[in-house]
Amino acid sequence: MTPELMQAGAKARHDHRQRIAASHGTSGGREAAYGRVVQEGEVDTAHGAILYLDDITVSFDGFKALDALTLSIGAGELRCIIGPNGAGKTTMMDVITGKTRPDVGKAYFGSTIDLLRLRENEIASIGIGRKFQKPTVFEYLTVFENLELALKADRGVRASAFFRPSGEQLDRIGAMLTLIHLKDRAQRIAGLLSHGQKQWLEIGMLLMQDPKLLLLDEPVAGMTDEETERTAELFLSLEGDHSLVVVEHDMKFIGELTQGGTNGKKVTVLHEGSVLAEGLLSDVQANDKVVEVYLGR
Ligand SMILES: Nc1ncnc2c1ncn2[C@@H]1O[C@H](COP(=O)(O)OP(=O)(O)OP(=O)(O)O)[C@@H](O)[C@H]1O
Ligand SMILES: [Mg+2]
Repeated sequence: MTPELMQAGAKARHDHRQRIAASHGTSGGREAAYGRVVQEGEVDTAHGAILYLDDITVSFDGFKALDALTLSIGAGELRCIIGPNGAGKTTMMDVITGKTRPDVGKAYFGSTIDLLRLRENEIASIGIGRKFQKPTVFEYLTVFENLELALKADRGVRASAFFRPSGEQLDRIGAMLTLIHLKDRAQRIAGLLSHGQKQWLEIGMLLMQDPKLLLLDEPVAGMTDEETERTAELFLSLEGDHSLVVVEHDMKFIGELTQGGTNGKKVTVLHEGSVLAEGLLSDVQANDKVVEVYLGR
């Protein structure tokens, strides 16, 4: 690499940090609740919320995919989001991750980081991981190499070329292989895994970056019943350490997620771009408006 390129890389990283700092309500260290000083780039969840969407509207040619959507996710919470096709679930994730900009509204990560001022790669780098429906692993690399690559994903080209995982990082990869049930498949080429195993590998790759908030769009679509159950167990084991937003149509899976782990987990029902109902699964399932939307008028 030429010195010019290295300098350009260093400048890009500097600009990146500046932009993330500027996305905070005030620049520099900030007096947060309880007198704690929150550093630049750190997510402030002292008020309890990791994600706060307020009055978000997204229009496509006049059609409102999101219509004044207001939603708050607690730190460490596992929130299930359901809703009929076209309700705006994926569009909501597009807004959180910076892929789509809303016409109006606010989106905050913790109480201080304004997501609408950050680019997609910046949002990923501050700890929001996203799993798309289709698995996107490196098919020609082994399971181990995929996880190794995820570790160095945010390094510069130069550091990456010389990257060798430390003993501690090797331990993390080993622990991840166990967590995602791929310990005995570590040297297998990812392209040869089952669909469900590829989904787990991608979730493992996201987790290697230790995201604070994980967005999972239809993670069990195409999985066998057994794979689906194991995925519910995996997500429940992440609850608390990570915050999770899980979008799914599979109600058996939603049932497993809400019955396991912490009690009183909330489910949000989206419809026509806004929240139709929110509460315990049994309550939203008994809600007349929800029944009407699902059964069709
Ligand atoms: N880029 C786009 N251009 C035009 N319309 C769009 C675009 N993206 C989404 N939409 C529309 O916005 C609405 C919400 O779509 P979205 O994909 O968010 O729904 P969803 O709740 O994820 O549905 P599903 O359960 O089928 O995945 C749909 O009517 C969709 O056709
Ligand atoms: Mg969708």
